[in-house]
Amino acid sequence: MHPFIAACRRQPTDFTPVWLMRQAGRYLPEYRAIRARLGFLELCKRPDVAAEVTLLPVERLGVDAAILFADILLIVEPMGVGLEFSRSEGPVIHRRVRSGADVERLVERDPAETVPFVFETARRVRAALGDRVPLIGFAGAPFTVASYLVEGGAAREYLETKRLMYADPSAWHALLGLLARTIARYLNGQIAAGTQAVQLFDSWVGALSPDDYREFVLPHTRAVIQGLTPGVPVIHFGTGTAGLLEAMREAGGDVIGLDWRVDLGEAWARLGHDVAVQGNLDPAALFASPAEIRRRVRAILGRAGGRPGHVFNLGHGVLPETPVDHVVAMVDAVHELSVR
Ligand code: CP3
Repeated sequence: MHPFIAACRRQPTDFTPVWLMRQAGRYLPEYRAIRARLGFLELCKRPDVAAEVTLLPVERLGVDAAILFADILLIVEPMGVGLEFSRSEGPVIHRRVRSGADVERLVERDPAETVPFVFETARRVRAALGDRVPLIGFAGAPFTVASYLVEGGAAREYLETKRLMYADPSAWHALLGLLARTIARYLNGQIAAGTQAVQLFDSWVGALSPDDYREFVLPHTRAVIQGLTPGVPVIHFGTGTAGLLEAMREAGGDVIGLDWRVDLGEAWARLGHDVAVQGNLDPAALFASPAEIRRRVRAILGRAGGRPGHVFNLGHGVLPETPVDHVVAMVDAVHELSVR
């Protein structure tokens, strides 16, 4: 079994496997060169190029898993909301979903028909990788995808999202139900196309109180996870989730993703050692010197205590200005310092 899959299943490994969220992104000069000629959405819709981008960091960094090059918002474009990726603002939704009537206008579509290019990318990457390293698929969790539909883009307070949740709970639950069904199909399509693990990104769920998480989010995230093809490890990730970890674990996942705001050792003890954890170096730490990066890697490995079931990662995605040689220094440090 590959060390990454073994760690997801809490089996002993010879070293701690490592990969990075956004490992195939703008900090890589090869990626920027490709983006100079193709828009982000165009790139996602070109399986030949998306497969090449997926493979870039595997060769360049020596990471222990590849993550499919795609996006959590690809499934919402065919729902008729008008998705655009703007250079300055990131994702923009032109027809925001803010009422029960808006929810009813959404078109529930089958990802097999709307985003076949994602599955084709997965098939190509898997064929190119063979048994070298596993391929991770991913989707946004219902809350995080809903937050983009409601806010129309990035947000700070998630006020409009919460307003819909509180003002019209039945519209909220209808929206998350629709998203949960679509997300489960999206992930199952990726699994059928050869992805060997999947990560569910609930990146912005840390905006919620524990009570609101349990009432408005947990049942839908649980439905996604329970709807997945069995046998494929599920990584359940969020940021700002220090107050939500136990509830996230109840929602499900073989591996719980931790951001850098928590102590990995304490968080793992709270979750229980019968679940695996992933994390949790601050992405900004990659701007420190390689010696300092190494020291911080050692500290995180120390908190994991050599226990089976730790996947090393950043606490969130690689930042666009990150020096590539510092990323390589981090990956090398994880491998060297974790040899058992
Ligand atoms: O290497 C990888 O991790 C695989 C690819 C990947 C992308 N998006 C490509 C991408 C993954 C795993 C995602 C997930 C994703 N997309 C999330 C969850 C992860 C997270 O950061 O919490 C979210 C919230 C999105 C939505 C999204 N897509 C945003 C907010 C942005 C803009 C932010 C930015 O960095 O510009 C995107 C665009 C995007 N998705 C880029 C990449 C490489 C940058 C686009 C570009 O090339 O300009």
